[in-house]
Amino acid sequence: MHNFQYRNNELFCEDVPVADIAREVKTPFYLYSYETLKRHFRAFDDSFKGIEHLTCFSMKSNSNMAVLRLFANEGGGVDIVSGGELYRAMKAGVAPGKIVYSGVGKTVEELEYAVSSDILMFNSESGQELITLNDTAKRLNRKARVSIRVNPDVDPQTHPYISTGLRENKFGIDIKKSLEEYRVAAGLGNLVVTGVSCHIGSQLTRVSPFVESIRKVKELIGRLKDAGIHIRYLDIGGGLGITYNEEKPPLPAEYAAAIKEEIGKTDLTLILEPGRVLVGNACILVAKVLYTKSSGDKNFIIVDAAMNDLMRPSLYGSFHGIQAVNTTGRKRIRADIVGPICESGDFLAKDRDVEALAQGDLLAVMSAGAYGFSMSSTYNSRPRVAEVMAKGDSYRVIRKRETCEDLVKGEEIPEFIA
Ligand code: LLP
Repeated sequence: MHNFQYRNNELFCEDVPVADIAREVKTPFYLYSYETLKRHFRAFDDSFKGIEHLTCFSMKSNSNMAVLRLFANEGGGVDIVSGGELYRAMKAGVAPGKIVYSGVGKTVEELEYAVSSDILMFNSESGQELITLNDTAKRLNRKARVSIRVNPDVDPQTHPYISTGLRENKFGIDIKKSLEEYRVAAGLGNLVVTGVSCHIGSQLTRVSPFVESIRKVKELIGRLKDAGIHIRYLDIGGGLGITYNEEKPPLPAEYAAAIKEEIGKTDLTLILEPGRVLVGNACILVAKVLYTKSSGDKNFIIVDAAMNDLMRPSLYGSFHGIQAVNTTGRKRIRADIVGPICESGDFLAKDRDVEALAQGDLLAVMSAGAYGFSMSSTYNSRPRVAEVMAKGDSYRVIRKRETCEDLVKGEEIPEFIA
């Protein structure tokens, strides 16, 4: 359920006509619904009622500070993967005690920053990282709370680029070897072993892989207990899928019920790292048709948004719905929706059955809130687009469109060239 609906053939975001925003902000822009974001957070978080838990939004999916603040106001924490994300999160008002830090390649500088910020927990992904974290904490005269991110070797049945829980993937420590690493970590003076974490992949459309990995992690927690290592936090990562096209992923309530059932009665605190499911369908990318043309029996609709603005179709071949902002009486055609970038890989949709949009028409690229703006770039020297959030009948720009000056910021021509 989201708040992008038609009224008299006009697309609205909450109570604001999308075309009104386009007139003022110009295209392209990402448009978020405040209500949808809030509802998604509550639906997810509420389904874990009855079990001690913390919902840590995986901010790699969307790191706009307005989005972060909204979730923080709802009591959420964040899952970060870089020093930059830590900076953003704290600037947006997320309490350090609600921040967990995952990632296979944390630098010493990043570790220092996070240790001094006293974040809730580091999800460590290698033996060397544990040693480096301990050394860092020692230097700073601090203790760092850690979990080991284990790789449970479970097939998440998703796109290979976003599958992380198989032994062949670079993530985590092989669950079979993790007991050894836990023993080492427990003996390091500046680490406090406090959790186990895992994340097996993204855009999962079934609960069974989650359940299977939790079963393996539970066994590990039992063995750790026998070894005298007591775990307080069980971080099960993110990965719940959404409907882009015809997928029928489990609802958050179904996902939560399956997890709660598998965990059973426990004194563990559950940490959840949802990204996509909270933001994916709470946002659209609004673009304008620049030109249309046909070659042979192929139709092209050339729009002002491109792969640099939304990379997912080019990178993963992923589906995003394409809808006209004003849907009055056009016939339908089959077309490629493409951007201005000089690559054949630059498309938002291929061979799509769409309304025969004409020059100047506005269109919405649906389900663009997760890994949309956050993966955008300035390729082809295209300034990054604006982000806007609507609430009721008003809206605000939550990130200004970049300018050409922004594009060259920090660049210098050395005197040996000049
Ligand atoms: N936790 C960890 C450790 C992760 O690596 C990820 C995503 C998440 C949580 C959140 O997963 P989600 O709930 O959003 O599925 N760029 C790709 C997705 C990459 C996902 C990376 N890790 C895409 O556009 O589909």
